[in-house]
Amino acid sequence: MTENNSKFNIIYYESVDSTNNIAKTLAKDGAKEGTVVVAKRQTAGRGRLGRQFYSEEGGLYLSIILRPQILAENAVQITAAAAVAVARACEEISDKKALIKWVNDIYMDNKKVSGILCEGVINPENKALSYAILGIGINVEKKSDFPPEIRDIATTLFEDTVDEDIYKNLTEAILKNFFKEYRALTHKTYLKEYRKRSILIGKEVTFEQNGDVHTAEVIGIDDAARLILSENGNTVKLGAGEVSVKLK
Ligand code: BTN
Repeated sequence: MTENNSKFNIIYYESVDSTNNIAKTLAKDGAKEGTVVVAKRQTAGRGRLGRQFYSEEGGLYLSIILRPQILAENAVQITAAAAVAVARACEEISDKKALIKWVNDIYMDNKKVSGILCEGVINPENKALSYAILGIGINVEKKSDFPPEIRDIATTLFEDTVDEDIYKNLTEAILKNFFKEYRALTHKTYLKEYRKRSILIGKEVTFEQNGDVHTAEVIGIDDAARLILSENGNTVKLGAGEVSVKLK
C-alpha cells in the first residue's frame, strides 16, 4: 500500500479483493469523504446486479468514500453524476468519444470500457445514507486477452500499452470531474450531459421484469435518472435497481 501527493487522499494497492470492500472498511472506521482507494488488480471485482467485474492488470479500479446528505433512494444521482465524470475523463485522456449506457456503463466504439457501482449504507433511523462507496472500473490497456464471455462486448481506452502516468492522470481527471458535479448534486447539472451522451434514447430495447421479456422504445431519462420507455403506446419508467436493459 502507498499514499501519493495528489490533492485527494488516495491510497494505492497492488491487488485487493475489491476496492469497494476496502473503502467500506475504511468508511466504517470513520475515513473522511473523499478518501480514495485505487488498485491495479482485483480478485473479486463486482458489478451491478451481483455480476463479476473483470479486474485483471491493465485496468484502473477505484472506490471513493462519500458521505452525502441525501436519502438512499436518491443514490442513483451519484451513479449518474459519476457516469458523466468518467465519460469526460476518458475523453480527456484518450481521443475517443465516450457515451453512456443507462445507468452505469461507459461505452467507446460501441463496446463497454467502464462500469460504475455505487453501494450505500443506510441509516435506519432517518433513511439517509450513512455513507456511500462509489466504485469505478475502467479497462485502460490490453495487458492480457479478455475472457471469451466479454471479448466481443468489452474494449480498452487504449489499443497499445501505456505508462503509469496515464493511470495517475485518469484518476485525477475522474476525481476533478466527479467532485465538480457531486458538490452541486441537488442541482442535477450533470443530467443534461447525461442525456446527451445516452446511447439508449431513441433506441428499441428489451428488458426483463417479473420473468417477462418486454420490448420498448427509450424516449428519455427523467430527473430522477429513471429510463422512460414507450411500450405499445404506454409510458413505462424503470429505476436503476430494477432491471438491466439490452439494445435490440
Ligand atoms: C458494472 O459494470 O456493473 C459495475 C462495475 C463496477 C466495478 C468497480 S471496479 C472498482 C469497484 N470495486 C468493485 O468491486 N467494483 C467497482
